[in-house]
Amino acid sequence: MKPKVYIARKISKEVEEYIGKHCDYRKWQGEGAIPLDVLIEEIKEVDGLLVQHAPITHELLEQAPNLKIISNSAVGYDSFDLEAMKQHKVLGTHTPFVLDETVADLAFSLILATARRVPELNNFVKQGKWDKQTDSRHLFGIDVHHATMGIIGMGRIGEKIVRRARFGFEMEVLYTSRTPKPALEEKYGIVYSELDALLEKSDFVVLIVPLTPETHHLMGQQQFEKMKNSAILINCARGAVVDERALIRALEKGEIRGAGLDVFEQEPVSPDNPLLGMDQVVALPHIGSATEKTRATMLMKAAENLVEGVTGKVPQNVVKELQDLLAN
Ligand code: DGY
Repeated sequence: MKPKVYIARKISKEVEEYIGKHCDYRKWQGEGAIPLDVLIEEIKEVDGLLVQHAPITHELLEQAPNLKIISNSAVGYDSFDLEAMKQHKVLGTHTPFVLDETVADLAFSLILATARRVPELNNFVKQGKWDKQTDSRHLFGIDVHHATMGIIGMGRIGEKIVRRARFGFEMEVLYTSRTPKPALEEKYGIVYSELDALLEKSDFVVLIVPLTPETHHLMGQQQFEKMKNSAILINCARGAVVDERALIRALEKGEIRGAGLDVFEQEPVSPDNPLLGMDQVVALPHIGSATEKTRATMLMKAAENLVEGVTGKVPQNVVKELQDLLAN
């Protein structure tokens, strides 16, 4: 008998065929995110579950006594309650590596778009506001090349951002992370810095840390006060790494120049969030990894992890906090 799995998001035909070869499956066919009550009903008898960002809680795990693995089609897994998964002995996997370059591209899209005011000036042209004024100072932005970037978090994606910054834009790069990375310092000529010094010196502060209790609201009022008034914040990590109220205040007071945000504390972001009314904010709908190729690769990787987890193999990408479960 094939193992039973539930697929809680849209998947391609290719991925569906692959899962179907190894498992009996049901899948979510509705629009948007699967409602929690439907998810709970569907997983009562399954051995495996494929999700993207759906919150995995103690309550949910209690309803699925056969569950062996939850495969998340994303690199970030702040949606996992890791303690509950340990307790219920449920493995969790994610999709590292395959999206690193794509997310680094997006980080640079936000950097360039905010620095050179691309969305704002695109609207300006399309709204017919471009006249023959000789004084175009009101259209000026700031340089990205040769500026100083401060990266908070120096994992795989951080390194890809560094390559672009150093070799493409000849930027100075400061970074902070839990542990200094001497090999990367040597390879790219980047400099480890304490957070406060990084905030004080950087023209672009780029967040690319996982959301954990330690990084929750890492950027708050005190941190914005330390940044240069001319600096721009880029967040392509998770919304809750930033205290959004403090960010709004910092932008309103001109403590920082602008922000490029792919992520928000509440997603989808509420249309009345004050950030959306600010010209100096570039806002995107959490699309860091969202290219056709990368999302297809992530889904196939998530499907492989799922199949491995329900067929007695060791899944390739068990998240580090749950690897002890493999020993039991
Ligand atoms: C991830 O994979 O965690 C990115 O945020 C894209 O979803």
